[in-house]
Amino acid sequence: TQSIVIALDGPSGSGKSSTSRGVATRLGLRYLDTGAMFRAMTWWMLEHDVDVHDAEAVAAAANRPQIVSGTDPSAPTITVDGTDVAEAIRGTEVTGAVSPVSAVPEVRARLLELQRAVIGEGGIVVEGRDIGSVVWPQAELKLYLTADAGARAARRALEEGGSDVAATEASLLARDKIDSSRTTAPLTVPEGAVHLDTTPFTLDEVIEKVVALAEAAE
Ligand code: C5P
Repeated sequence: TQSIVIALDGPSGSGKSSTSRGVATRLGLRYLDTGAMFRAMTWWMLEHDVDVHDAEAVAAAANRPQIVSGTDPSAPTITVDGTDVAEAIRGTEVTGAVSPVSAVPEVRARLLELQRAVIGEGGIVVEGRDIGSVVWPQAELKLYLTADAGARAARRALEEGGSDVAATEASLLARDKIDSSRTTAPLTVPEGAVHLDTTPFTLDEVIEKVVALAEAAE
C-alpha cells in the first residue's frame, strides 16, 4: 500500500474530497487536494488585482505565488506566500473565479510540476479533474466519481452552511461546463478508471468500495 497512488477525479460536489480523505485515513496514505491548489492560485490573482478573465495576465503571473500543500488527510493545510488560505479559498469570490483561472495552460503547467513533486514516491490519494488523465496516468487505481446534479448541489450547499440549493446547482453546472470544455486537461473519464456513481450511497459505503478496490489493486 505504501507506494500506491490513487487518482480520484470527478465534477464538483461528487463526494471526491470526503471520499479521498476517508480512504487516505483508512489506508494510512497521504492526501493531496489539487482543487485547493487551483483555488489558492485564484486567491492570489484576486489579491493582486489580476483580471481573472484576462488569460494573458493570468499566464504572466502564474509562476509568482508560492503554494504549499500539506498532505495529512485529517488536517489538510494550504498556504500561499506563507499565508494560510484554507478558509479564504472556499469563499464565493474564489469559487466564482477558479474555473477561468484553471483553464490557463501556464497555470496548469505550474501546478502540474508542484503536484508531481508532492506525489513523488507515492503512498497518496490525489483528487482533482485531470489526475488519472494527465497528472499521474500510471496510478495503480483510478476512479471517476459522479453523482446526480441535484445530489451534488444538496451536499455542497450543506457544506457551505445552508446556501440556496438551486443557486448552488447552477454554480456547480457552470463550473463543470467550463472544466469539461477547456482545451488543456479537461475534466474527462480517464482511461482505465472505475466509474462510480455515488448518488445512492452513503459516504461510508463509497469509502468501503474504494478501500476494497485499492486492496485488490496491489
Ligand atoms: O475540487 P474543487 O471544486 O475545489 O476545484 C475547484 C476548481 O479547480 C475546479 O472547478 C476546476 O476548475 C479546477 N481544478 C482543475 N483541475 C484539478 C482540480 C481542480 O482544473 N485537478
